[in-house]
Amino acid sequence: MKFFLDTADIEQIRTVNSWGILDGVTTNPTLVSKTGRPFLEVVKEILEEVDGPVSLETVSLDAEGMVKEGRQLAELGENVVVKIPMTPEGMKAVKLLEEEGIPTNVTLIFSPTQALIAAKAGASYVSPFVGRLDDISGEGMKLIREIREIFFNYEFTTEIIVASVRHPMHVLEAALVGADICTAPFSTIEKLFKHPLTDKGIDTFLKDWEKVPDKPF
Ligand code: E4P
Repeated sequence: MKFFLDTADIEQIRTVNSWGILDGVTTNPTLVSKTGRPFLEVVKEILEEVDGPVSLETVSLDAEGMVKEGRQLAELGENVVVKIPMTPEGMKAVKLLEEEGIPTNVTLIFSPTQALIAAKAGASYVSPFVGRLDDISGEGMKLIREIREIFFNYEFTTEIIVASVRHPMHVLEAALVGADICTAPFSTIEKLFKHPLTDKGIDTFLKDWEKVPDKPF
């Protein structure tokens, strides 16, 4: 499973990249606004740092506007993926952009049939939001299992990005279901490293190392 970082914070991106586990980045208008920085400045830094796909979101509501913004965003880098909301106008834009060779990521997916529509329109990626479904007592991971099955049944090549991830269990379940990608916030990725027995083991090894005579380091 590929790991994407769900952020527009360049420091977080650099940190995860330095760990050797960063496969891509997803952003949205909320994440960009949190940086408090100019859009193009932020995006250029992200594109310089990241080799994998970087999703940048359109804000128009009509297909014409989305395509125009999508083309502009795609000009910024070869690895730009244009994020388009799951609407009929959005699907028109997906079809047109994909025909031009611009990859798209259909966002705000909350049902398996929305994912089916996005795949049929030719989207490169779909982003089902598990956390926001869980927040309203839905079953986020059930959605991922159903999309996985549908894409398998019909051999769609559209990749599933598990999005709106809140905690490590979402990451674990995404991997068990066989999602292609999990996009998680920095705080969740940091938690994946943690295990009390790892910390305890390091402590013990260091204490025992002190007892070793004539150490080379
Ligand atoms: C996905 O691409 C979105 O940027 C993101 O995962 C939304 O997460 P949220 O529900 O935590 O805002």
